[in-house]
This record gives sequence, structure tokens and C-alpha cells, in this order.
Amino acid sequence: MYIGIDLGTSGVKTILIDYNQDILATAHSALTVQSPQDGFNEQDPHSWIKATEICLAELKKQKSKEFSNTTSIGISGHMHGATIIDDQGKVIRPCILWNDTRAFKECEEFENQDFDVRNISGNIAMPGFTAPKINWLIKNESENFKKISKVLLPKDYLRYYLTGEFFSDMSDASGTLWMDIMKRQWSEQLLAISKLNINHMPKLVEGNQEAGMLSSKLKEKFNFNKNVIVVGGAGDNAASAAGLGVIEENQSFISLGTSGVFFTPTSNFLMNTKDAVHSFCHCLPNKWHLMSVMLSASNCLDWICSLTGNKISDALKNIENYSSNLENIFNAPYFLPYLSGERTPHNDPHARGSFHYLKTTTDKSAMQYAVLEGISFGIFDGFNSIQSVNQKFDDIFVVGGGSKSSYWLNLLSSILNRKLSICEQSEFGAALGVARLAMFADKQVEDKNSIIKKINIKKSFIPSEKNISSLEKRYLIWKELYPNNKSNNFHISH
Ligand code: XUL
Repeated sequence: MYIGIDLGTSGVKTILIDYNQDILATAHSALTVQSPQDGFNEQDPHSWIKATEICLAELKKQKSKEFSNTTSIGISGHMHGATIIDDQGKVIRPCILWNDTRAFKECEEFENQDFDVRNISGNIAMPGFTAPKINWLIKNESENFKKISKVLLPKDYLRYYLTGEFFSDMSDASGTLWMDIMKRQWSEQLLAISKLNINHMPKLVEGNQEAGMLSSKLKEKFNFNKNVIVVGGAGDNAASAAGLGVIEENQSFISLGTSGVFFTPTSNFLMNTKDAVHSFCHCLPNKWHLMSVMLSASNCLDWICSLTGNKISDALKNIENYSSNLENIFNAPYFLPYLSGERTPHNDPHARGSFHYLKTTTDKSAMQYAVLEGISFGIFDGFNSIQSVNQKFDDIFVVGGGSKSSYWLNLLSSILNRKLSICEQSEFGAALGVARLAMFADKQVEDKNSIIKKINIKKSFIPSEKNISSLEKRYLIWKELYPNNKSNNFHISH
């Protein structure tokens, strides 16, 4: 048996699978995000431990015999978070999360070196990444900075709790900005920009390699029969890719979660920093991937639903009714989905959301439609940014909460003018992905090449001929709104 733990922004998910990758038990425990100021997003690392323990106990309750026979565990987590711990292993302050944009000034300073930072890191310095957050601490919380013994990514802090050891995997570590992405190793040169060195970093392994052993205390607490191996695991997006079997260049997926992602593997190191595309290692050896990230995807939908007092399911019904009349689509307002800034393609932490083209006749459904369309246009922007360096993908899967809506999938398919597919069990994507990585540590599994296989397609969505040209026209108008309004994005305090 193998366990996958996925530390998501809004909750921990765990799954227990067997040798045939059948899912035997699943569990979930919610997490909250604290936003002490606009642009600040933090989480208490202790809450990750509590939620993980609740989930493990739940798996044990559901399938106690099988759970006790676990061989290995894989962990995935939301990326980039700066979890800083002192020399006693204590958390110094709350983790600064991936969608926190406070470190925008530090990004410029980070890149202002006498060598080409982007060439090594493969990426633009963006405030979501780990390194600028540490540079922010140097200036704003110097006492906390001085106490740092290790900087860990969220899932690697969880590993530290599970095993007492310091490891990270290549895919997650790629999002720190301290890695030489092509060479798959820490870069002393990049670390020095944050006044850190290799001793502050966990050891790097590939996602499918061993990275610690469950502590004897936890082995006893959860009644495991054997010594349980913990593997490197992966950042949440690379983990979802492993869960879907997306490891080849002709494959890709879109994730419609809190963030919106377009992800495609590459067999070489490629980059497109001009459009703020992320260029990271994949979670298997000798594989890389490209990724576009929009910071607020289903977040925008949650936001409009809370303003209009609708449940998401009701809002989706409103939107569907509204857009069944093509005339309404032409009359709908436009929405820029940048509630907490944007990464791909703008790299603009100051960008904020906005409605355009409001009329006296604009009603709630029209605004809800505009929000869903605006998020989808944002995904299309990311897709286009990746296409400009890599056109090899043809299969496109969709995962994440948003993939439950057939209406949204139809809309997105028409905007991208591509076939989109959803898969069986895709809601367990990242957790399944790392449970699969855990299988590599089991000597009984002889054919390691067949572990990361494709999962079955449940349904495919094709573009609707009737909507393509109106959506194309609307996208061209929408695309002009950001550059035309950019100067208004600067808040008075900047
Ligand atoms: C990726 C990113 C997000 C987080 C949260 O660069 O910031 O996708 O991993 O899911």
C-alpha cells in the first residue's frame, strides 16, 4: 500500500492506494489562509500537521488493515511558500505563501546582479517565488531572518515533521529561484543573493527517490507494520501531472483551482521569461516542464458568488441560462481576473481585478458570466505564452474544482479552440501522483516504467462552432483592457 498526501492551499487531501493503484480510502481536512494585509497571504505550518494527522487517522479508520501495510508515502504541496525554521527545528513565523505579493520590490533587486540570474534560474523573479520573500525578511524582519537555520517549502516542512529529515525534490525546489534548473542542483550564486548558502537548504532528490523514513514515533502512533519510506514527492502541479500520467511532450493539462495553470512537460530545459512562463524541473529524472500560472482562477468565482449571494452551482446555472442567448454574450461586461496581481503573462503584482463595459441593463448573471469568461481568457493567455516556445502538446486534460462544471469546460474549449478532456479520479490528481511516486520505493514493484500511466478519460469537450467567433472577438477586446488600464493599477501607496 502507498499513501499520497497533498498539502493544498485550502486543505490537505490524502489517499491510500494498492499495488494496482486502486483507491482504497481518501480523506480531506480544510485549511484557512490568513491575509493580514492586501497582498499578504500566510498559513500556520502547525495547521498542516494537524490536518495531515486528521487525514491519516481517517484513512486508518476506513481501511485499517491495508493502511497498516503501507510501504511508502509521497507528499505534494502548494509551491514556493517560505517556511523558516530555527536551529531547534521550530517555525519562526507563519509561512509566506505562493500568492503573497509583498516582495515585489525585492524581485528587481534580486535580478540586479552582475550575472544573468534568469539564465540560471530559468525564471523571472516573481514575488510568489521563495527567494524574494527571504529578501523581504532581510529588510523587514531582520530578527527573524537571523534565526533561520533552514528554509523549507511547505511539503518539505511536512516531511520534516514526518521523518525529522531535510529533503526537497527537484520540481518543488525549482520554484524557489535558488536552483540551477538545467543542472538540477542548488546554485550557490543565487543563494548568495538572499544571504543564504547550501547549508540552509534541504538535500535535493528526484521525486521518485527515497527522502527519509517515517519516524518511529509516528510509526507507532499510526500502527504501521513496516518502516515506511517517504519519497521526494513533488510540487502540486508536477504531482498532478504524475497523477494524470502527463510526463511526455505531447501531453498537457489545465488546472482550474485557486490558481489557474497550464502545464506541459519538455524533454529539455526551455524558457520564456518574456511572458513570465515558469520553467521548472519535472518530478522524474531528465524531464522538465513549462507552466503558466494565473494567481486567481476559481478564487474569482468564489469572490463574485460571495458578493452576489449565490452558491457556485447557482451562479453556474445563471451563467448558462444567460449565455444561451448569443446576444447576451455580446452585451456582457468584461472582467480582468487579477484580484491578487498576475504572474503569466504580465508579471504584475500590482494588477487588480476590474469590470468594464457596464450598462444600466447589466445584471447579476451578466457579471457572473463576465467573471467566468475573464478567468478563461486568463487561462488562454497562459496557453498562448507557452505555445510561443513549445507547440508539441495535443492532449489537454483539465483538473481542479473548476473541471466539475461541464459548462465551464465547454466555454474553455471554445475559447482555446481545442478538445479538452476530464479523467476518472482526477480530483485526487496530486495525491494520486505522489502515491505513484511512492511506488518507486517499493522493491516489489518490478516494472517501474508502468507506474506513471495515463488515467482513463471520462469525457471530452469540443469547441462549439456557434460560439467560437464571438468569443474570439471578445478575447481581442479583453486583451487590450490590461495594457490600456495598466497605469491605474498602481495603488496610491506605491
Ligand atoms: C505554481 C503556483 C501555484 C501553487 C498553488 O507556481 O504558485 O500553482 O503551487 O497551487
